[in-house]
Amino acid sequence: MRAIPSVLGEEQTAFLVRQRVARLATADSAGKPHAVPVCFACARASVYVALDEKPKDVPVTRLKRVKNILENPDVALIADRYTEEWDLLAFVMVRGRAELLDPDTEEHIAAVKLLRGKYHQYETMRIEENPVIAIRPERAASWGALDEPKSSGTQILDTIHGRRSVRRYLQKGVPEDLVERVLEAARWAPSPHGRQPWRFAVLTREETKERLARAMGEEWRANLEMDGQGAEIVEKRLQGSRRRLLDAPVLLLICLYLEDLDAYPDAGRQRGERTMAVQSLGAAAQNALLAAYDLGLDAGWMCAPLFCPEKVVEALRLDPKLVPHALLTLGYAEGDPPKRRSRKTLDELVVCRD
Ligand SMILES: Cc1cc2nc3c(=O)[nH]c(=O)nc-3n(C[C@H](O)[C@H](O)[C@H](O)COP(=O)(O)O)c2cc1C
Repeated sequence: MRAIPSVLGEEQTAFLVRQRVARLATADSAGKPHAVPVCFACARASVYVALDEKPKDVPVTRLKRVKNILENPDVALIADRYTEEWDLLAFVMVRGRAELLDPDTEEHIAAVKLLRGKYHQYETMRIEENPVIAIRPERAASWGALDEPKSSGTQILDTIHGRRSVRRYLQKGVPEDLVERVLEAARWAPSPHGRQPWRFAVLTREETKERLARAMGEEWRANLEMDGQGAEIVEKRLQGSRRRLLDAPVLLLICLYLEDLDAYPDAGRQRGERTMAVQSLGAAAQNALLAAYDLGLDAGWMCAPLFCPEKVVEALRLDPKLVPHALLTLGYAEGDPPKRRSRKTLDELVVCRD
């Protein structure tokens, strides 16, 4: 990347970095303007825009924005925030000169990496085969509440507050595309070294759920009997758990997968590595639960697989390298859940505000 001192201030850069879309204005040699919405990525001294047309569809030099830049490199790029709360309006406009970076040059490779880092959709598009537009800012102008958050956070907090564990479901099927979106949310959980040490099994067939319920039931029965529970109670609890598994239209089993993690010679660091993987599995599960709730679905969490992982692997014929941990039930709640755990106050939970 070029080490040109940036004309963008800290606030302006922070605002630009948060925006997902901007408008790129170019003009031909006669000054005739042209503007298009663009995805972009910012480095300290340049703004990059990919040319994401399929390389062989239209030669990129035929694109109006590219023709204009070749004729007249003066461009402007504007990113703005609009909300109905007008005291949150803001924009940053960058004026500068644009150039086309040829594929395979050092800056092109770095720019493609930046763009792919910001937009996961670019991961599967061959943007590396096209030139990238690099804008070298010469002047920047901005207006409005650059520092304000885009929303007051009420939307995400509503989802967090609204979600609750559901243990009884309607016999109403869950559309496959909603399950895919729940999985997509889980896929984007943070993970140690970005290795995603978890795998998912999606169970919808009655026969498969039945196999799982039977395998986990046997183990649980043995454990309850070992605890000295009475036969009647054992039967009742097993039936309750079995009903939960069979009634839920979709079961999402989240397994730990440790194969891609770092290996350490000492037990302490190895334990830390495994703990991080488990923490990350929890984040994936929570992403799934929140996404499900946001999509109008209900969900619950069952820890049973954690206590008989080999039985679950065997019953579902999974790779023995997988360690089943969490079982999420997905569906539509039969009614409002009877009890909702209250939460400790922040005063009890925050132990230090130094
Ligand atoms: C790691 C973990 C394991 C859980 N295991 C179970 C379970 O086996 N059975 C169950 O009914 N709920 C289980 N839960 C759900 C909790 O009971 C529930 O989240 C808690 O009571 C708070 O209620 P809420 O989710 O409705 O806010 C589990 C939750 C977590 C995070």
